[in-house]
Amino acid sequence: MGDEVEARAQCVCDHLHRPDHPDWKLTDAKVRSTENRTVPGGELRQREAEIDRKDLVENREKGACGDVHGGIDNPKSTAWDGIGAAYWNQGYDGGPSPEECDLYLRGVGAGDPVLLVGASTVRLALATVERGAVLTVADFSSVQLSQLGQLLHCRAEYVLADVTRSGALAAEAFRVVLADRLINRFTIPEMAAALGVLSGTLRAGGELRLSYRLGLYDRDHAVLAEARRRGDLAAVYDEQTSDIDYGGVRTWLGTVLPPHGAIPIEVLVQFYSSRGREHRLRQGELDVLVQQVAASRGLELSLVQHRLPNRERDYILRVTRLV
Ligand SMILES: C[S@@+](CC[C@H](N)C(=O)[O-])C[C@H]1O[C@@H](n2cnc3c(N)ncnc32)[C@H](O)[C@@H]1O
Repeated sequence: MGDEVEARAQCVCDHLHRPDHPDWKLTDAKVRSTENRTVPGGELRQREAEIDRKDLVENREKGACGDVHGGIDNPKSTAWDGIGAAYWNQGYDGGPSPEECDLYLRGVGAGDPVLLVGASTVRLALATVERGAVLTVADFSSVQLSQLGQLLHCRAEYVLADVTRSGALAAEAFRVVLADRLINRFTIPEMAAALGVLSGTLRAGGELRLSYRLGLYDRDHAVLAEARRRGDLAAVYDEQTSDIDYGGVRTWLGTVLPPHGAIPIEVLVQFYSSRGREHRLRQGELDVLVQQVAASRGLELSLVQHRLPNRERDYILRVTRLV
């Protein structure tokens, strides 16, 4: 029986890995799920250890190919493809903590359909499946999806989607939608688009739970101080809009970036400088945006915000779709 399953898995694997398969990057995660169905659980540590520097180098090569994005036309995705699992398995300490996972998952139980946007938020993905919820993970990075798939196997569904593009996700499918500081990766127009797409995925009574940080990141302070010193501020920071784009200062970015685990500095520079333009949020901006999105889409949304415990400028935004 074991051999038969292995043979069938190999057959599916071969089929999906045909070079002309339209979605091979995405299905890689699903293939691995199939392949590993017969493997006993509990290999999380070992699997994490397997995704190491070797994968990082491979990821960089894949990121450079330019033709591996399977329908994603957002250049920001190349940054996340390039860094891959190194983002979360090389000394990342940005959370979510177990306490934050509990907050995200309050009231979520076995069988609840939950969407997580951001395959790099591995701790929250694990906490969600451990509750028995039915998890779908969406990401615009096929590498992030595939590498999460190596950990979770068939305990989740994986969807390659850019949530700033309308029609990216199934409508009214989820009771809870989670994203850990995804909002901070966006410009204001991208935030508005993503809020529309994500609230559209909620069933009536469902809730978006999205965390975000107010103001500048610590590393922004270091980069902006150096930019001022070099007379280069406008290349990285738009004071009018409060948008940051490290791409404008890639030539010296590596001199001031803080370390991220054992990730080589040139990989970090490539990652941050490819992430594109990101808005730094000011107090009250998101409330206004959510109201605008609700009005423009004819949705009835209610909104609550809490500060995350033990974090000064991180909040969780909870948006309920009333009808
Ligand atoms: C959730 S965000 C921010 C980092 C977060 N704090 C964490 O723990 O990973 C990073 C993830 O979101 C994904 N992502 C960023 N922009 C996206 C978009 N427009 N659509 C779908 N996924 C996106 C990235 O590929 C990455 O996996």
